[in-house]
Amino acid sequence: MSKALEGVRVLDMTHVQAGPICTQMLAWLGADVIKVEPPGRGDVTRQQLRDIPDVDSLYFTMLNSNKRSLTLDIKHERGREILWELLRRSDVLVENFGPGALDRQGISWELLQVEAPRLIYASIKGFGPGDYQSAKAYETIAQAMGGAMSTTGFEDGPPTSTGAQIGDSGSAVHLLAAILAALLQRQTTGRGQRVQIAMQHAVLNLCRVKIRDHQRLQRGPLKEYPNREFGAAVPRSGNASGGGQPGWALRCSPGGPDDFIYVIVQPHVWERLLRQIGREDLLGDPAWETPEARLQHLDEMFAMIEGWTSRHTKWEVFQQFNSIDIPCGPVFDTGDLVNDRSLRESGMIVEVPHPERGTYLTVGCPLRLSDSAVEIGRSPLLGEHSGEVLQEVLGLEAAEVELMREQGVV
Ligand code: COA
Repeated sequence: MSKALEGVRVLDMTHVQAGPICTQMLAWLGADVIKVEPPGRGDVTRQQLRDIPDVDSLYFTMLNSNKRSLTLDIKHERGREILWELLRRSDVLVENFGPGALDRQGISWELLQVEAPRLIYASIKGFGPGDYQSAKAYETIAQAMGGAMSTTGFEDGPPTSTGAQIGDSGSAVHLLAAILAALLQRQTTGRGQRVQIAMQHAVLNLCRVKIRDHQRLQRGPLKEYPNREFGAAVPRSGNASGGGQPGWALRCSPGGPDDFIYVIVQPHVWERLLRQIGREDLLGDPAWETPEARLQHLDEMFAMIEGWTSRHTKWEVFQQFNSIDIPCGPVFDTGDLVNDRSLRESGMIVEVPHPERGTYLTVGCPLRLSDSAVEIGRSPLLGEHSGEVLQEVLGLEAAEVELMREQGVV
């Protein structure tokens, strides 16, 4: 079967998480992704959070599958020459270095337009043009400055970051969309273009509903929030659903740290819900009958439902509530996730063989295309494909590659 991005060559100068997640998706979609890494050390994540000595970390292996690795010292004159040759033969350059890193090596958008006019030059930076543009950024900095932290957590606790990597992986997904659009537009214009994603912007885009609520707050209290008092900005609202239907995470049996189920109370399931939890006595009670009435005492409502859920496991509640069409979801801990049969069978939790670490688990590809099947491969060893890429893409002789190896260029 062919692949959606077959024939697209991506020069992957990404590191850490935000960039590699994007290029990993490009590779899954069939692009030839050549990861350019500094000789000797490679992407910093190869060595970070290692669980096995001297073996590429899971941090690296889970973010760089299906790619080829080329080591190249771009600060060496010959290395830069090689890089330019590769750029002229590539469709996309992706990078997420600190501001100005590639410009300092003489690789500028102005020059790229002349030397490689069909190239799409895609970057992730912490911030867009303006006051913060020269600052570096990591995941939680983007969460802090994009609105996620101030709106996550409980009212009486500090701003909290979410485990979902919305700054890094969230930016990567935005960049993927932008690169695909640029590839499509190139079909009509024949030109590449500059594609930029700021992590702060990506997080803000994901926090869009909080800016909705900020404006609603100017007209009065947010009734669906569990908070009693409101200031000038949207408060942290714990586990409130944040949407038009109230929801909360309810305790289940046997009471472990993740024995919770998230339940949403839609207006048309109210009667069924009362019967399920044995509170038929409230049927027809005006204090509970309408969504507006229930908004007055949501905490009491959820405490009442929890009185029932806490006597059952989250899996029992899931099964019983689902059987009467009540939207709910057990809180999966990481053990639940890696052992879940459906996630395994659907290829979202995958075992991949690796020559140095043995088999490791990774998260599969959520993008499903009927004409472009994704096979999750392993990540490359450092410089594993240096000779192959230089000979195949640039037509260099093996002896020349060897010389560059001796000189530390490759
Ligand atoms: N050969 C030689 N040098 C190389 C190289 C190669 N193949 N690839 C990269 N380098 C060099 C760069 O030229 C640069 O050198 P310089 O600073 O002397 O100009 C350096 O490696 C990378 O710099 P930088 O990206 O600033 O690294 P850092 O470790 O100081 O900062 C980040 C890391 C993540 C904070 C920074 O890259 C950043 O802000 N990136 C943008 C936002 C982002 O993606 N954040 C990461 C989220 S996971």
